[in-house]
Amino acid sequence: MPTMAQVVRNAYNQRALEEETSNGFNIYMAWHTCGSLELITSSDVFVPSSNQTTESQQLSLFGGPTVFLTGPAANKFIFSSDSLTLKQPQSITRIIGSQNMMELIGADHKRVRGAVSYFLKPEILRKYVGKIDEEIRQHFRTNWLSHQQVKVSPSMKSLTFNVICSTIFGIKQGTTREALVNEFNKMLAGMWAVPINLPFTHFHNSLKAREKVGKILNRIIVEKRSALQRGECSSEDEDLITYLISLGADKGETLTEEEILDNAVLLMIAGHDTTAIVLTFIVRQLANDPIIYASVVNEQEEIAKTKAPEEALTWDDLLKMKYTWRVAQEILRTIPPLFGGFRRVIKDVEFGGYLIPKGWQVFWNTSVTHMDESIFKEPEKFNPLRFKKQSEIPPYCFIAFGAGPRICPGYEFAKTETLVAVHYMVTRFKWSLCCKDDTFVRDPMPSPKQGLPVLIEVKASL
Ligand code: HEM
Repeated sequence: MPTMAQVVRNAYNQRALEEETSNGFNIYMAWHTCGSLELITSSDVFVPSSNQTTESQQLSLFGGPTVFLTGPAANKFIFSSDSLTLKQPQSITRIIGSQNMMELIGADHKRVRGAVSYFLKPEILRKYVGKIDEEIRQHFRTNWLSHQQVKVSPSMKSLTFNVICSTIFGIKQGTTREALVNEFNKMLAGMWAVPINLPFTHFHNSLKAREKVGKILNRIIVEKRSALQRGECSSEDEDLITYLISLGADKGETLTEEEILDNAVLLMIAGHDTTAIVLTFIVRQLANDPIIYASVVNEQEEIAKTKAPEEALTWDDLLKMKYTWRVAQEILRTIPPLFGGFRRVIKDVEFGGYLIPKGWQVFWNTSVTHMDESIFKEPEKFNPLRFKKQSEIPPYCFIAFGAGPRICPGYEFAKTETLVAVHYMVTRFKWSLCCKDDTFVRDPMPSPKQGLPVLIEVKASL
């Protein structure tokens, strides 16, 4: 069995190598010598699945010596080994902040994740369905109702941002939210930029915007702290920020100001584009697939029939939206918002007979597993029914939300806003795509080239 170093040496000249092992997982090597700023292009490490050859895919990542592992066994290793830790590109860490939970490990990660995830659990989330419903309905009233044409991608981004602002942060519509969204978008523009902080670089502008986002959030924290002290609100029933600042030091749960701030920024980033992408591609799928569209409309109209015109959806209504969620899961399988991510090797570790040295990176990828025909039969076929029996999907095979101790804590939140938004879209509107070219690029998240403009027809009022 060769050591990893031998494999790397072999790979050095050809730049990429695939090793099929008897364990049935694949190892792809990419050897990069220019330090952490080197750009890894798709030809180095990315193996496009067969259905993606028709879609334009552009991918750029930062890296050092990198091992690319795919398949269920590799996913289990990556998501559960304590020899690996999450690694974000430097630009992302500097923009979000060093105390965000993705940078934390061990007990600190557990403490901060435990506190932050509190508001994202079903027991708490079910109380917020009405608030999410109101925010989403308001979005469609303002941005879809009196419009003939809508660009779905920016519309969904604004929808998910507003839902997070109101439900998780308790920021009402108005000037503060507008200022926040403005700076937030500037901040996002440099997230994947080369981290050179010189005037006029994207990264510099992003850092400046992050400072302003921090100031706005700090002001909100101060206001909420004094409202709490004056007894004007109770910690648990308000919003995540109020809850975090009220945590008892006696229980050892306190979060520092910096931890609260950095994790607020993380939630805004992690929970906004991802769900917006799922919604955007659901709209595209429903426009292109009349059979699936009819099934979704049928399920949602049955629920709409039981509601008075202004009555909000409830948690129990969402439980009935089984087919709609299967469509969303199939979107997540075929066009996962996150193509993968890096782990840093913090101590020498063996996998499948190979030694991966400390200091190296491991890269996991969603699509290669999701498009593996030994796991998902006819992987190119869009078939929501493959999610009918969840128990038939083996562990570490559907990894759109990751797995293990860092599995996405926003799963239920994303599911809730997706179902509520699809409900109002299909029961109140009909749409058709404006552009023949509905292909997408990865930037690095999948994004329709033209923003997915659609022509709107109103079916019923909101
Ligand atoms: C469809 C929507 C979403 C998808 C596909 C998604 C995907 C993921 C994935 C794959 C990870 C794991 C990354 C890794 O292990 O390297 C992750 C982590 C995370 N997600 Fe999500 N996510 C979504 C929505 C959300 C939402 C709505 C929130 C919050 C409101 C959120 C908050 C987070 C956080 C805080 C982490 C870091 C967890 C940790 O390091 O412990 N996500 N997400």
